[in-house]
Amino acid sequence: MRILLDKFTKKFGNLTVIDEMDLEIHDGEMIALLGGSGCGKSTTLFAICGIHKVNGGRILFGDKDVTNVTSQERNVGVVFQSFALYPHMSVEQNIGFPLKLRKESQSEIKRKVDEIAEMVHIENLLQRRPGELSGGQQQRVALARALIRRPDVLLLDEPLANLDATLRLEMRSEIRRIQRETGITAVLVTHDQTEAMSMCDRIAIMDAGKIVQITEPKDMYDNPVSDFVAGFLGSPPIAFLSGQIKDGNFIEPSTKTKIPLSGNITKNHNGRNVRIGVRPEFFQPGSGITIGGKVTFIESQGRETLFNVTLSNGTILRSIQGKRSESKIGDQVEWGIDAQKILVFDEDGARL
Ligand SMILES: Nc1ncnc2c1ncn2[C@@H]1O[C@H](COP(=O)(O)OP(=O)(O)OP(=O)(O)O)[C@@H](O)[C@H]1O
Ligand SMILES: [Mg+2]
Repeated sequence: MRILLDKFTKKFGNLTVIDEMDLEIHDGEMIALLGGSGCGKSTTLFAICGIHKVNGGRILFGDKDVTNVTSQERNVGVVFQSFALYPHMSVEQNIGFPLKLRKESQSEIKRKVDEIAEMVHIENLLQRRPGELSGGQQQRVALARALIRRPDVLLLDEPLANLDATLRLEMRSEIRRIQRETGITAVLVTHDQTEAMSMCDRIAIMDAGKIVQITEPKDMYDNPVSDFVAGFLGSPPIAFLSGQIKDGNFIEPSTKTKIPLSGNITKNHNGRNVRIGVRPEFFQPGSGITIGGKVTFIESQGRETLFNVTLSNGTILRSIQGKRSESKIGDQVEWGIDAQKILVFDEDGARL
């Protein structure tokens, strides 16, 4: 089911939280709304769900205008951060509840519950109460309950936030598997960039009620439109170095940095103050344009090691290295920046 937000506007009292947002979600797609706390992710999801009335614009499901259609009539499945299962009911009753409300027959409910329980791998848990389940199992029950009515749209608001790291990883791929198997159009609200990148076909990054970029995860990582987007994706994050464009190069005198830039960037911007963004995988020993600094932080992450290198002007660059490194804190190092991979931003943060 295609979803279209057309100049969607939402106010709380005098506060405009979302101002004329346009968003198209393709049929069968899973899309992430990604952004910091308070940027308007849940508000947008609630409007799609029909919990919030809109203050302007339209919401379409397929070709149908659902702007004034109630939540019940929109045929959406919703999973929130807190699973909100009914504690006194068995898993089977929890999952079947939406069908019971619709007055479907006992045998029909049983058949559908069995089918969906098999899909989310909880067929052995149907007689338990929610209190007798782990977080991941409860999450599967919540998903099953959201899916049992065969909704046109699946809406997920931070569904993994209450799970521990291992379960989160497992449920990420499980939700994606179920979304693919059912072909359901899904919207995932999250502030976790890894979750958005690993689960979704496209990501919409939001800032202060606006979508600042919407594209596929890899494209957003490689081609962010601004320093804000570049900083949101990638862990450890991209580092920035301020300087100037001069005669085809990025120049930062105090650290004696000189990096050739592509002609496209330098052509119209000679003399301009800029910031370059360097991702940790493109600042490495032994290759590229070398830049000197002191190792000021080391963190072993098991397979990889993360380094902070502080330059003479105080700027910190980050490096992530797979091979064992001999470097210690306090070492003076000269590592290389891959000139092809740097991103250049103007003083307002827009990508050049
Ligand atoms: N019912 C409400 N009444 C008044 N203001 C609200 C209401 N709900 C949300 N807001 C405000 O709208 C803005 C967006 O809130 P929203 O819940 O959409 O943020 P979010 O992106 O989901 O953040 P988080 O990641 O913290 O959940 C915030 O400034 C919030 O304070
Ligand atoms: Mg929220």
